Amino acid sequence: MAIFASTAPTQKGIVITVPVLVLSVSVATIMLFFLLSSLSYCDCPASAPTLQRVSGVGSDGGEFGVVKERISPTKEDIEWVKDQIRENGLHMQDNVLRKGINPRTRAQQLQDLIQYKGISHYEEPESGNHTALPCPGELLVEEHHSNYGEPWAGGRDVFEFLAESARLSPNSKVLEIGCGTLRVGLHFIRYLSPEHYHCLERDELSLMAAFRYELPSQGLLHKRPLIVRGEDMNFSNFGSGIEYDLIYASAVFLHMPDNLVWAGLERLASKLKPYDGRIFVSHNIKFCSRLGGEECTKRLTSLGLEYLGKHTHDSLLFNHYEIWFEFKRFKA
Ligand SMILES: *[C@@H]1O[C@H](CO)[C@@H](O)[C@H](O)[C@H]1NC(C)=O
Ligand SMILES: *[C@@H]1O[C@H](CO)[C@@H](O)[C@H](O)[C@H]1NC(C)=O
Repeated sequence: MAIFASTAPTQKGIVITVPVLVLSVSVATIMLFFLLSSLSYCDCPASAPTLQRVSGVGSDGGEFGVVKERISPTKEDIEWVKDQIRENGLHMQDNVLRKGINPRTRAQQLQDLIQYKGISHYEEPESGNHTALPCPGELLVEEHHSNYGEPWAGGRDVFEFLAESARLSPNSKVLEIGCGTLRVGLHFIRYLSPEHYHCLERDELSLMAAFRYELPSQGLLHKRPLIVRGEDMNFSNFGSGIEYDLIYASAVFLHMPDNLVWAGLERLASKLKPYDGRIFVSHNIKFCSRLGGEECTKRLTSLGLEYLGKHTHDSLLFNHYEIWFEFKRFKA
């Protein structure tokens, strides 16, 4: 979880007077206090303060001192990392055998793992009782990171777009339809309060990867995500009375029969927070457009849903954009 303190932009040529400097330092101290005190309770109860406002005056006389969760990187962040690469004189290199570095394919790595090649390990008979959560080798070498068209890193792009578009805070509640191996979900789980991330997924191997590798290896078991194996848009295991701030389906509806998508929307409409809550659907909404524009609007309206528009979001790391369709609930 990255917590950033946004400070006033520093401008060249501004003379910082001593009183302003003292004020800035004391405000920074207060911010640090809030930051440390919120970090020191990181069992992170649902009510933990996550957005702190500390009033103050910046060195340019403007307001500053908003300590908040940042989601996507700033221009400065991107400049910073480019500087780091430049200052270290780094250029992309071929990944070949070199001192202490032995590149292998995932299949080769799996073979080495099975044969304990170069791996310190316990011998029988007690070998089995040192490992609290034994994980299958296929998952340890991350075969499941190659299960999608896009690279694994694209999961972060989806999270940044959705969390910012739906104006989430850590206390928000999120439902993902078809979270697979948690390529996207991990970022939500890390960001949200415990138990605030829910998912319905039908693929058993993906769920094994999520529970046996991704959650433990990312240190996210304490976040207690509610991930339920199931299909046919049956959300009965998620309890009643819950209102989600965000419900999303990334590359899922296009693989489903239209009737099933509509059945799901019918069940979900009442679980979306009225007005502020958002449904986001990626790629296309052919389940809707195939009906014809007017018929589609009518059907959405009968569910209390309104189509808000289409968005695209550029990837941070590769030439790719996601297409997202946004819906809200227009009445309570
Ligand atoms: C560890 O494994 C050995 C051999 O299988 C067994 O006898 C022993 O009880 C185990 N110890 C624990 C703490 O489980
Ligand atoms: C949904 O799942 C629950 C429990 O898993 C089951 O009892 C119920 O019949 C299912 N509903 C539908 C519509 O399939």
